[in-house]
Formats: sequence, structure tokens, C-alpha cells
Amino acid sequence: MIKIAPSILSADFAKLGQEVDECLQGGADYIHFDVMDGEFVPNISIGIPVLKSLRKHTDGFIDVHLMIDRPVRYVETFVNAGADLLTFHVESDSEENILAAVKKTKELGKKVGLSVKPKTQADALYTYMELLDLVLVMTVEPGFGGQSFMADMLPKIETFAKYIDEHHLNCELEVDGGVDIKTAPLVKQAGANVLVAGSAVFREKDRGQIIQALREV
Ligand code: DX5
Ligand code: ZN
Repeated sequence: MIKIAPSILSADFAKLGQEVDECLQGGADYIHFDVMDGEFVPNISIGIPVLKSLRKHTDGFIDVHLMIDRPVRYVETFVNAGADLLTFHVESDSEENILAAVKKTKELGKKVGLSVKPKTQADALYTYMELLDLVLVMTVEPGFGGQSFMADMLPKIETFAKYIDEHHLNCELEVDGGVDIKTAPLVKQAGANVLVAGSAVFREKDRGQIIQALREV
């Protein structure tokens, strides 16, 4: 089943509750919550207080994408703030600390994912795969919404899809960056099952219609 995860990075933060409600009522499966620290990526977005407020507002599934250095330091804080899934970047710390972050998230009873930036090869995640609920393939350089989809990432999506299938893993395959009506069919065909879409969803007035279109196109 294809899942759609609107990225609230492109939402109007002055009315975030309403924006999220519209997405969930429109059939969104996850709410994708992008955290940026100005170190791991050259931009700063939202963090813990906003997540706490959103958690109070909705029971919807919140998929937290941590684009921060050394995320192991904040696992407990983000879990307590209301994340349902935490995704870390494999490039953001040593192998030992990434493993610690993954294990800590699972111990706290939440789902866990790992992400690869465009220049990172799929095999960087192979040692962790058995532990993961989700793999996130970036199809833009992380940091900003509204960038163009990198079609040269499609083989990496295919590689992960094949790996997950061959190893019989219960692991979702999420794609983030430049996903819209034109690129959604490509990522699905490559084997992705969770599509993050920021600008494509929030530039449309009718959120339900675009969410359905992304799922079905
Ligand atoms: C980029 C973020 C994305 C971003 C996607 O670093 O991780 O989630 O919001 O935005 P679009 O869909 O506009 O490329
Ligand atoms: Zn993201």
C-alpha cells in the first residue's frame, strides 16, 4: 500500500494545526516533520516545542526526520515530545552512535528509520537493516523544500527495494524531495511505498485531492 506523508516544512506555521488536520482528513498517512539544526544541513527549521504542540493537537502518525548532528543526544526528548517514528541520517554520527540512537528509539517503543543523503550509497545502511522499520532515500540534498527531484537516485531506491524483498524485511521504503505528480510514479515504480511531499501538497488548495492523486497516479 502506498502511503503519503505531507512535509509540513511547506505549511503555513501560523496555522499549523489546521494545515495538519486538512492533510489527515484528506487521507495523509503520516505527517512528515523536518527538524534542521543549521549544522548537519545549512538551514534551521522546527523542533521540540512545535512537536509537543502538534502532539497535543492530533493523534495522527508523526514521522520525524532529524537532519541534525549527533541525534543520539535527543532521542528521548523527541520521543517524549510525541514522535511516532524517528529517522536519523547515517552521515550524522559514528557507526557506534547511530546504532545507539536506533536501539534507544526501539527501547522506547517507537519506530525507527535511517536516511541516506544523495551522495551516500545504499550499502551504508546494510549493517542496520534488520533493526529498521523504515529506510529514507533523499532525492534532493536535505535542507530545503521545493527543490527538483534527482532522478539519478532511482537506482538506489530499486537497490533498497530489492534488498528489503530478498532479506524478507518488514521495512518501509520512504522517498523525500521533489516528489510531485510527475515524479511520484517513478518512485513507486522503483519500489518506494512512503512518499513525502511538501511543496506539491501545500501549494494546492485541496489537500485531499492532491494526496489522493499522489497515491493513485
Ligand atoms: C528536505 C526535507 C523535505 C522537504 C521536501 O530537506 O527533508 O522533507 O520538505 O520538500 P519538497 O517535497 O518540496 O521537495
Ligand atoms: Zn524530510
